[in-house]
Amino acid sequence: MYRSHNCGQLNATHINKEVTLAGWVQKSRDKGFMVWVDLRDRYGITQLIFDEQRTDKSVFEKAKSLGREFVIQVKGTVIERESKNANMATGDIEILVSELIVLNSAMLPPFTIEDDTDGGEETRMKYRYLDIRRNPVKNALLFRHKVAMEVRKYLSDLDFCEVETPYLIKSTPEGARDFVVPSRMNQGQFYALPQSPQTFKQLLMVGGMDKYFQIVKCFRDEDLRADRQPEFTQIDCEMAFVEQEDILNVFEGLTRHLLKELKGIEVAEFPRMTYEHAMKTYGNDKPDIRFEMKFGELNSTAQHKDFGVFNSAELVVGIAAPGCASYTRKEIDALIDWVKRPQIGASGMVYVKCEEDGTFKSSVDKFYDQSDLKKWAEATNAKAGDMIFVLSGPADKTRSQLSALRMELATRLGLRNPEVFAPLWVVDFPLLEWDEESGRYHAMHHPFTSPKPEDMKLIETEPGKVRANAYDMVLNGNEIGGGSIRIHDKELQSRMFSLLGFSPEQAEEQFGFLMNAFQFGAPPHGGLAFGLDRLVAILGGQETIRDFIAFPKNNSGRDVMIDAPSLIDDAQLKELCIRLDLK
Ligand code: AMO
Repeated sequence: MYRSHNCGQLNATHINKEVTLAGWVQKSRDKGFMVWVDLRDRYGITQLIFDEQRTDKSVFEKAKSLGREFVIQVKGTVIERESKNANMATGDIEILVSELIVLNSAMLPPFTIEDDTDGGEETRMKYRYLDIRRNPVKNALLFRHKVAMEVRKYLSDLDFCEVETPYLIKSTPEGARDFVVPSRMNQGQFYALPQSPQTFKQLLMVGGMDKYFQIVKCFRDEDLRADRQPEFTQIDCEMAFVEQEDILNVFEGLTRHLLKELKGIEVAEFPRMTYEHAMKTYGNDKPDIRFEMKFGELNSTAQHKDFGVFNSAELVVGIAAPGCASYTRKEIDALIDWVKRPQIGASGMVYVKCEEDGTFKSSVDKFYDQSDLKKWAEATNAKAGDMIFVLSGPADKTRSQLSALRMELATRLGLRNPEVFAPLWVVDFPLLEWDEESGRYHAMHHPFTSPKPEDMKLIETEPGKVRANAYDMVLNGNEIGGGSIRIHDKELQSRMFSLLGFSPEQAEEQFGFLMNAFQFGAPPHGGLAFGLDRLVAILGGQETIRDFIAFPKNNSGRDVMIDAPSLIDDAQLKELCIRLDLK
């Protein structure tokens, strides 16, 4: 038996007990006549003591030679500590060791295995197994497990059945590029790894499974960001005989359950906001509603004077930054530079200080008087002591710039408290979005999303105005899930493909299996998928998903630990009929 207890388990009730422990040497302190070792495993740290007087000489000598991260097994007696440590679960006791076995020695780790490590990102990724020994990473993985367990429990209790779908499939168009896998047995042909199990879960509904879920890996070859990995995990769900309302209720319930079980938080409000409202009020389809700073449109109050910049703009829009009237000229200039960076792309910014005495001081005082500025303050809901920042230009672009500024200000002002959770649904997304590059419409969600019946009349004349039965769940400014009611009728699905620029042959070739299935009694159905990595990271108070994934990829999509992707040898290429000389 390697151990009788783990390293987080022993306390004063175990005093005088003989125990066996195993773990890693976190650190050792050699005082000459006494050696203390902190022994660590997943569960905690227990202090070991080797005493020249009381410990066998050979054991004592061996203890002196232990290095960091050696794997050892010890037998000994639990004794009361002289100087107790109230911050440790095992802080009242220590183990007076009588036997010591070195199970494995260890090279000096390339970074310290401490909560605050000296290791850089790249080194920690290369030695990820050492990083996982550190509390922040270990706890993130344990937390992820807890979230996944709660999800499985909640959905299973509601009769959802977890079904596995294949990884070697034909591509599903979710908007990103596919990762492809060559087939040896079908030379020259390729599988695609699923961007999501979308079509399979719909086929499970045709198959009568009624309520499906799966915690499943998805693969997308897209540019990476803090909240994106090339392989990530979805909580993928589908239900038959449901309307949008049924789905929103089930998954609002799941989100409430997770927040309660994992964070001890009862969510009071779970607002539903239309896409249009979100874009107008927050400039964003994933608004962070933990704080105000709602957009105030100023066209009607700003376009009657001689200020050409505003007069020629499609949209003039502002936000009130709370308490920022005290910003110095230098601070304001820095913010103006911030919005003018190419990543944001504003050409300039107007500001209005709302003084404590109720007067206004602006960068455009030459054009606007106090009564004009008062109207701006009303439109942006600015109070004395606030600063109004105003941008202008083409509507969509200006909204997205102001949205970026809103988030930046909120971060600077400490309004994005990671322990406050504000979930909401964004509903009524447009069905299609115009893509300038290809000069045609794309499905905003995916091509299987059902248009709103009342908007069907616009589908040939003004397709851009058709709204979908599609919804996203947003948590603290992040899209953590999205879904829709699906098309379950062959005719409508074919029309949709043709709107998206597929010829009937292409649609048949790529999705014939689905449209065919629709002719065999497809029930009305709908569903959604949460991004598990994002959900876990946000519940864990962070927005970078990497730390919540055991073995993540770096920003170039590489696994630096196993060094992948990598070349494969000529024989393997030949067998797969792949030639690499294409230019
Ligand atoms: P969607 O593409 O919106 O929908 O994906 C669902 C959720 O998955 C998460 N997500 C990601 N997380 C990490 N890295 C990525 N690269 C990544 N891409 C997406 C997001 C997102 O909200 N089949 C549909 C769902 C449906 O209609 O039922 C789908 O995949 O949190």
